Amino acid sequence: MKERSLENITGRSKTTHFYLNSNDSTLSTLYMGTSNSMPIIDESSASNDNATTAIFNTVTSIYNAITNTTNLIVTNTTQMYQNSYTTDTYNNSDTSMTDLILTTRNIYKNLVTNTTDSNILDIGDMSRNSILNATSEYTNNDWFYLLVYSSVAVVIPVLLILKGISLATLTMSASTTIHDNIFTNVIRSPMSFFDSNPPGRIMNKFSKELDEADYTLPQLLDILLQVFMQFVILAIMSLQTNLMFIIGFVLAFIIMYLLRYISIATVRQLKRLENLKRSVLLGHVNTTTNGLVTISTFNQNEFFFKRFCYHHDVVCSVELLFDFALRWVGVRLDLTFICIFVAAVYIFALSKGTISPSFAAMTLNFLTQILNMSQFLIRIINDTESRFTIIERLNQFRSLTPEITEEARNIPKKNNWPKTGDVRFSGVWMKYREDMKYIFKNVSFHIRDNEKIGIVGRTGAGKSSLGSILFRLVKVDKGKVLIDDVDICMINLDELRSKISIIPQDPVLFSGTIRYNLDPFSEYSDEKLWESLEKVQIKSKIMSMEHCLDSMVEENGENISVGERQLICMARALLKNNKILLLDEATASIDTGTDAIIQATIARVFSDYTVLTIAHRLNTVLNCDKILVMDQGEIIEFDSPEVLLSKPSSMFSQMMSTSGGGAL
Ligand SMILES: Nc1ncnc2c1ncn2[C@@H]1O[C@H](COP(=O)(O)OP(=O)(O)OP(=O)(O)O)[C@@H](O)[C@H]1O
Ligand SMILES: [Mg+2]
Repeated sequence: MKERSLENITGRSKTTHFYLNSNDSTLSTLYMGTSNSMPIIDESSASNDNATTAIFNTVTSIYNAITNTTNLIVTNTTQMYQNSYTTDTYNNSDTSMTDLILTTRNIYKNLVTNTTDSNILDIGDMSRNSILNATSEYTNNDWFYLLVYSSVAVVIPVLLILKGISLATLTMSASTTIHDNIFTNVIRSPMSFFDSNPPGRIMNKFSKELDEADYTLPQLLDILLQVFMQFVILAIMSLQTNLMFIIGFVLAFIIMYLLRYISIATVRQLKRLENLKRSVLLGHVNTTTNGLVTISTFNQNEFFFKRFCYHHDVVCSVELLFDFALRWVGVRLDLTFICIFVAAVYIFALSKGTISPSFAAMTLNFLTQILNMSQFLIRIINDTESRFTIIERLNQFRSLTPEITEEARNIPKKNNWPKTGDVRFSGVWMKYREDMKYIFKNVSFHIRDNEKIGIVGRTGAGKSSLGSILFRLVKVDKGKVLIDDVDICMINLDELRSKISIIPQDPVLFSGTIRYNLDPFSEYSDEKLWESLEKVQIKSKIMSMEHCLDSMVEENGENISVGERQLICMARALLKNNKILLLDEATASIDTGTDAIIQATIARVFSDYTVLTIAHRLNTVLNCDKILVMDQGEIIEFDSPEVLLSKPSSMFSQMMSTSGGGAL
């Protein structure tokens, strides 16, 4: 092993030592990098025409090059410095400030004009060598350079592609997992979750927040990884040159840590606030779009626009504050690092004669790079860390309490349940949320198979809540609900919900065709679809539409009247042919004539089914077998209409007399 020093390069005695294989003339040439940059050619190998020996030498060279990469970089960088000094008529004994600045400028020029590759291998050497040897044959050195450069040209794109693929795969799978988890959790959440979480908040999760996790965070992570690697390489390079650089690193680290410690809480909090305020903005957009007709009718467009501007301003202000906070850190980092740099410059200038100018210039250059890199690193760390609050917010939806346990979800289905439409409520107590009062108070009644029940009561009496209990949308605190003598809690939830038909108070149609709205899973023939449409008296209307069953329904059924929506929902329920049917004011928006026809149809078609009709117009339930009168979550009366009407003191009689049998 032969020992070489930087002495003749930097003018400084034995600062760093490089250990080279004395047999390897290629690397020797490379490492030496003399001022005229002429490689030292090993005559024996240059004259050797034996291809095997040449290949062997090349392979050995590459191996050595890999094992000595760091040294290679350092030596070459040092050589660049050396080139600067030799081209500049620099006087070693006169280390004035002007000289230092000139030298630094030259180094900078050298660094800029040299490509990245030339930082590793001296391309100047090779080109000069090639020109000199233009007429002669290639030497082993040339082959070595060519091989290394072409390998670099191949390896760099391959590594970049690999990095891109692995980062994209990793971040995509992480983001997909988060999305799938929160989506599953949200759709498995109980009604109370949707009551307490405004749509704006949920929309924000699935739009902006997931977008940040999908797009912004991976990008930042990519940059962070890159800057961190550059920082590490720079650290290795500079520490190889001189261990004194450790002072620079320690200083940079302390400053970075302190500034991060001071700023991170604010930066994180601002990011959280921004997400929170964006949820409010989206909530406002959501309510405004839902209530557009009302807003326009009451001429409140300007008011809502101003409120939108206000919420938008708040979001932008918080975003701006977030950027300011990052800048605040940036400016302080810049200032501190400038101070360190200026101090170093002064130290070198004042130690005239004791520190060699080449060493001073090299130190300043490394210092600039270390400081620049550190401040960029801390900015990226701060930004990335604060954006991780998105994951924190998304994680809130990963720990939601599901509507039912996994055990309950796996209850096996009873395919032939219910055989009868027998419904029994036994001492049922129910409230929507823990902090609310009871909506159902000790409710007990028994509906026999095939009975037609009319349910009446003042608004807020708890009529629709009865449907929520039957569908297990809310939990019963005490008591039991039995269908066909089986506790509904023991039934598979999907099965329970598929075995009861409901036409809710707010008819819901999805954007798609009429056919899709009637039969989303394409289970029935066109004949069946037309049959059910005919039963609810809407066949002629659908036939008059341009594409009949394939006519489009806009979002929320906006292009269809509420009454028609109710009829389509009713046709959808009729198709299911379930043993139990719940009509929650299903005909409230339908004219009296059509309502009467539908009631007659229901009585005829559903003669073998249990039908619960929550009635808006009292005379529509007069044909029912029994009337269930509710008030403030309690059953007040439950008997046939004749019996109830025969008692003038009964609540039903009083309601009939006050409403005249019409709407309550
Ligand atoms: N999702 C919910 N969360 C909390 N409270 C609710 C919820 N749904 C209904 N309530 C409350 O439960 C009570 C009964 O409501 P319900 O909708 O059952 O009344 P209703 O008899 O159907 O009234 P209406 O005739 O106006 O439709 C009301 O006081 C209502 O405020
Ligand atoms: Mg209701």
